[in-house]
Amino acid sequence: MKIYENNGVFVLETQNTHYAMAVDCEGVINHLHWGKPCKIDDYKSVYKPWERNSNHSARDCCKTEYLPYCGSVYRPVAFVAKHGDGCRETVLTYDSHKISEGEDYILLEIELSDKPYSLAVTLCYKLRENTDVIERYTKIKNKSDSAVLLSKIASGEFNLPSKRPYLSTNTNGSWGGEFRIEKTEVKNGTLLYDSRKGGSDHTLNPWFILSQNADEKQGDVYFGALAWSGNFKVEINRDFAGVTRAVIGINDFDFSYNLRPGEEFITPSVYCGYAVGYGGMSNQMNAYAVENILPKRFAKEPLPVLYNSWEATFFDVSSESQQKIAEIAADIGCELFVMDDGWFGQRKDDWAGLGDWYVNKDKFPEGLKPLIDKVKSLGMRFGLWFEPEMVNPDSDLYRAHPEWTYHYKTRKASLLRQQLVLNLTRDDVKEFVFGVMDKMLAEYDISYIKWDMNRAYSETGAENLENPQELWYRHTAAVYEIADRLKAKYPDLQIECCASGGGRADLGAMSHFSMLLTSDNTDPVDRLEIQHGFSLLYPIKCMRAWVTDTNRYSRKNDFDFRFNVTMQGSLSIGGNLTKYSEEELEIHRKYITLYKEIRNTVQFGAFYRLANYAEDRIYATQYVLGSESVIFLCTSVNSFFNDKFYHIFFEGLDSEGTYKLTYDDKEEIYGGAYLMNVGLDFEIGGTLRSKIIRLKRI
Ligand code: GLA
Repeated sequence: MKIYENNGVFVLETQNTHYAMAVDCEGVINHLHWGKPCKIDDYKSVYKPWERNSNHSARDCCKTEYLPYCGSVYRPVAFVAKHGDGCRETVLTYDSHKISEGEDYILLEIELSDKPYSLAVTLCYKLRENTDVIERYTKIKNKSDSAVLLSKIASGEFNLPSKRPYLSTNTNGSWGGEFRIEKTEVKNGTLLYDSRKGGSDHTLNPWFILSQNADEKQGDVYFGALAWSGNFKVEINRDFAGVTRAVIGINDFDFSYNLRPGEEFITPSVYCGYAVGYGGMSNQMNAYAVENILPKRFAKEPLPVLYNSWEATFFDVSSESQQKIAEIAADIGCELFVMDDGWFGQRKDDWAGLGDWYVNKDKFPEGLKPLIDKVKSLGMRFGLWFEPEMVNPDSDLYRAHPEWTYHYKTRKASLLRQQLVLNLTRDDVKEFVFGVMDKMLAEYDISYIKWDMNRAYSETGAENLENPQELWYRHTAAVYEIADRLKAKYPDLQIECCASGGGRADLGAMSHFSMLLTSDNTDPVDRLEIQHGFSLLYPIKCMRAWVTDTNRYSRKNDFDFRFNVTMQGSLSIGGNLTKYSEEELEIHRKYITLYKEIRNTVQFGAFYRLANYAEDRIYATQYVLGSESVIFLCTSVNSFFNDKFYHIFFEGLDSEGTYKLTYDDKEEIYGGAYLMNVGLDFEIGGTLRSKIIRLKRI
């Protein structure tokens, strides 16, 4: 990695790419190149103001690195502000730059400013060793003595090289159907992906993936993923001249931020890169996230096999019933026991109790201690569910503090799941939330929290704020702040992020929480699609996946199939173990033991998708770490027409090495080059069939 600067030309050199930009003759930073590297001296400032005609201004057509709303500019912009004197335009020109080094990065900061208003906007680019991923964010500093109202502050704008249309990959998901991939060709106009619900939501993802002629192993793929769990906006535009640009950041819908004199606002980061093939993209981001995005304390540690009580007991928890399940969970090999919803306040169902974070005495007459002692005596750690941002109207908290929710006095509050959202932009509410969790952590030996969030915001009045439109930023920032404070006070605490499953499955959540739920849907067939979408840009390790009793659609699937799907992430167990036969428990024991043998490879290995799930109706993934590799093959709905055999070309092996393959009680020996170039046929015909193949270099 290296950053070159010469006469206003900047080149960011990553492992295999260049990202280049230059100050133009009007002082604006223009984008030059992103992709395969060239000779450094060949990069030159090329922009010459060229007005196509009176309808297509020079500025509107050029490749600006970060375009503010100003002058003759009519395309989607990255930045909009209203200055103290009422001027609603911002002109940003180059002021200075700085290159600095941190422990594991080099950082380029290019400071632009709007001179008459003493407003500084700094474009920041962080480079790290052995990767093509660049972390990009923007800092806005008000150096004047009057406030400036920011109404759009994207993290970055990206210009793509080719004039041919790009294929955009995002999702069209829902609750229980997160990460369902959709692809759209960007030919004209603006393609918009956003969330307005307060969280990043189940539907669309805060990322752009723009590709040409790409499959897993080839083609150009440009990507950028926003580390933000609140409202986001991704705009992808292709103009009449064929230039494709993407603007990504916090959503400007109903948003503004009053930047007072002397204040600085730092946008969330966007992690962007150029890769060859979707596989190249996923592999880069998988490794990069573990190395640089996940909270350091647990990033390099394998995640424990957890048991979660939700699908087994729902709200009907008690000390006795949980202890019974815990005994079996420990016996089959679980390492962490998480009690889900139902343990607090008057929580019998989802109509009451949220906000009352004290132990329910009817269910736990002696508090949680007997249960926790039991869990610990069984050799497991203990985890507890919270939904700290919410309150039920039927709760002591709401009766005492109805004013603590977002609300308008003239409007009837919309309930969703019988609950309201607490106004976390209030200091007293923030302290309350931190306080109740802190109290439980101080009193009990809790090493894991499942932090849930189950509804979208509405009636977002926040009288406490001088500018209530800041709540869209401040609420999410408060969530991160509370999680960080808890981790600072309890360094061994792990926090799982859940928002009705995958409603907050984004890199922002991953940078503050150790792992997350990708979906409430534990049906193994549906999971294949969900896991496929998640694996595109997010780290495999973070993906909690549960083996449960689910058989929602009466599909006949056995535990082998469920485990083989679920072991492709962080294995978790969620069925009602007290109802299982000894034979079923033995299957659990067998797979949990197996998972512990392969989990380092799955959670930290290089990751490959070996099949095209949509076309081949087979989900095939491979993980490689050092001398070990593991492959999962899972079929969804196969028909008689499909071949009984599926041919696999292995990936990521040592071509000089010799490997022992173990599958179906067979052992075979092959060279790495043979496995990758010739490949092998595996018998996997039929519906809902699965197979695991293990490789060891000998
Ligand atoms: C949400 C979560 C579930 C479970 C329930 C509890 O739906 O996604 O995993 O915790 O809440 O009410």
